[in-house]
Amino acid sequence: MTGCGKEVELLKKELTLLDEKQTKSDKDYSIYFQPPSLKDAKKRGKEDIAVHYESAIPEDMKTVGTGKKYLIRTYGCQMNEHDTEVMKGMLEEMGYESTEEKLDADIILLNTCAIRENAEDKVFGELGHLKTLKQQKPGLILGVCGCMSQEESVVNRIMQKHAFVDIIFGTHNIHRLPVLLKEAYYGKEMVVEVWSKEGDIIENLPKKREGMKAWVNIMYGCDKFCTYCIVPYTRGKERSRRPHDVLAEIRDLARQGFKEITLLGQNVNAYGKDFDDISYSFGDLMDDVRKIDIPRIRFTTSHPRDFDDRLIEVLAKRGNLVEHIHLPVQSGNTEVLKLMSRKYSREHYLDLVRKIRVAIPDAMLTTDIIVGFPGETEEQFQDTLSLVREVRYDSAFTFIYSPRDGTPAAAMEDNVPEEVKKDRLKRLNDLLNVISREQNEQLRGQTLEVLVEGESRTNPDVLAGRTRTNKLVHFRGSKELAGQFVQVTITEPQTWVLKGELVTSQPAKVV
Ligand code: SAH
Ligand code: SF4
Ligand code: F3S
Repeated sequence: MTGCGKEVELLKKELTLLDEKQTKSDKDYSIYFQPPSLKDAKKRGKEDIAVHYESAIPEDMKTVGTGKKYLIRTYGCQMNEHDTEVMKGMLEEMGYESTEEKLDADIILLNTCAIRENAEDKVFGELGHLKTLKQQKPGLILGVCGCMSQEESVVNRIMQKHAFVDIIFGTHNIHRLPVLLKEAYYGKEMVVEVWSKEGDIIENLPKKREGMKAWVNIMYGCDKFCTYCIVPYTRGKERSRRPHDVLAEIRDLARQGFKEITLLGQNVNAYGKDFDDISYSFGDLMDDVRKIDIPRIRFTTSHPRDFDDRLIEVLAKRGNLVEHIHLPVQSGNTEVLKLMSRKYSREHYLDLVRKIRVAIPDAMLTTDIIVGFPGETEEQFQDTLSLVREVRYDSAFTFIYSPRDGTPAAAMEDNVPEEVKKDRLKRLNDLLNVISREQNEQLRGQTLEVLVEGESRTNPDVLAGRTRTNKLVHFRGSKELAGQFVQVTITEPQTWVLKGELVTSQPAKVV
C-alpha cells in the first residue's frame, strides 16, 4: 500500500472513531500502534512524493492548550531544531504556552537524535529523570519524537523500560502531533505512530521562529546511504520542496525583517534532482534566493559529490551569499572513503576545494571528520591529517565512529581499539586547533562586518556576533546593537573567538 493510501485509510478510521464519540474502552488502539521498521525505511523509489498543503490543526484542537504549558528538549542537528520550531508553532496554535521549567510543563517532548550512541544515551538518561516527574504529576504528557523514534530497537526499549512515556512519533509524523495528543489525552495506552515511509512534503505548518536568524528547509531526507549513517533510515528519501514554496517562505521572512537565513537539508546540493517536471538545481535556487532582500544566506549541509560548477559560479557572485562552505570530508583516504560509500575520492575532494578557492579565494571551509572507521589504519588516518593540512579548514566537527544498528558498517568488524580512536581524535583536534589559530591570526587588524547576536554567554559586558564566514567575534558595545550589522576591527584573534573593537556604533551598511 502506498503512503498516501495508508494515510487516507487511517484518516477514515480516525473519523469513525472520533466522530462517533466512542468511549475509551471501545476504541481500536491498534491504529495508534504503528512501530517503525528500518527495513521499510531503506526502500527507495516505489512511493510518489505527495505535497500536502492542508492545515494540520483540527478545529476541535484549537483551544485545547489554553492555560497549559509545553517544553521541548531538542537534540541533534539543525533539522531537528527546525522541526522543534514547527512543533512549537503547532502547540501555540492550540493555545499552549512555552516554558523552560519542567515542573511547570503539561507536555514535555524529547526531539531526539540517533546519529551516535552518545546522542541516544543522553535521551535515555533524560527519560530516567522524567520518570520521577511523571509519578509526581500523572497528568503530564511525555512524548519522544525525532530520529530515535524511527528505530525499532529504541521503540522496543521505551515500551519495555519506560512505559510511562505517552506518545512516540517519528520524523514523518510531526504534522500529526495534534491528533496524537488528542489520543494521548483520551486514551490509556501508549500512542505509537512512526511511519517508515519514503516521505511526503507537508507545507503550511506553523513555525515559531525566534531571533533574527531563520532556518528554511529546502529538502528532506537522504539517498546517499553512507555506510556508517542512520539518517537515510530516519529521514526518508531525498525530496525537494517546490521552488515557489521555498522562495515564498524566504520572501515572507525578508518582509518580516530576518537578517540571516540558512537553507537546510541533509544534502542541500542534491536539491531539485527529484523533480521530473522541471530542471532546477541548487545553484538555480541560490541564484534566485540571491535576489531576495535578506542580508545573509547560508546553507548546510552540502555533499562533495553533488557540488557542481553551476553552484560554484553562483556562490562566486557573493552579495548576500556568504563565503562559508561546510563541506564534510569524513576521511582523507580514498580506500576508507570507498568503504564509507562517500562516492568521491581524496583527489576529487581536493580538486573541488581548488575550484572553490579559485572562484572564491577568501571562502572559509569547515568540515566533518570521522576517526576510527572499521579497519582504519594509522597510515590511512595520516592521510586525513595531511588532507586537513592541505585544505586548512577554519574549523571542523570531529567524531569517533559509532556503529549504528541496521547500517552496513555495523556489520563490519569495529576493530580499531577505543584508546586508538581517542588518540586519533586528540591528534586530529590538536592539528585543527593549530590551523584555526593560524587562520584567525591572518584576520588581525582587519575590519569585518559583524551581525550582533547580543551579550556574550561568558561575559555580559561583552557583545557577541558573527562574521559572514560565521566566526564568533567578541567586542564591547551597547546592548542596543543586538540584531544590527556593525564593523569590528580584530585586535586579538584566538582559536575559538576573534576579539575586536567596534569601529563605529552606527550600524554598518550592508551591500
Ligand atoms: N548530511 C551531512 C551530515 C549528517 S550527520 C553530511 O553528509 O555531511 C553529521 C555528521 O555526523 C556526519 O557528517 C558525520 O561526520 C557524523 N556521523 C554520522 N554518522 C556517524 C557515525 N555512525 N559515527 C560517527 N559519526 C557519524
Ligand atoms: Fe548521512 Fe551520508 Fe546522508 Fe550525510 S550524506 S546524511 S553522512 S548518509
Ligand atoms: Fe541526528 Fe537525525 Fe539530525 S540522527 S543529526 S537529528 S537528522
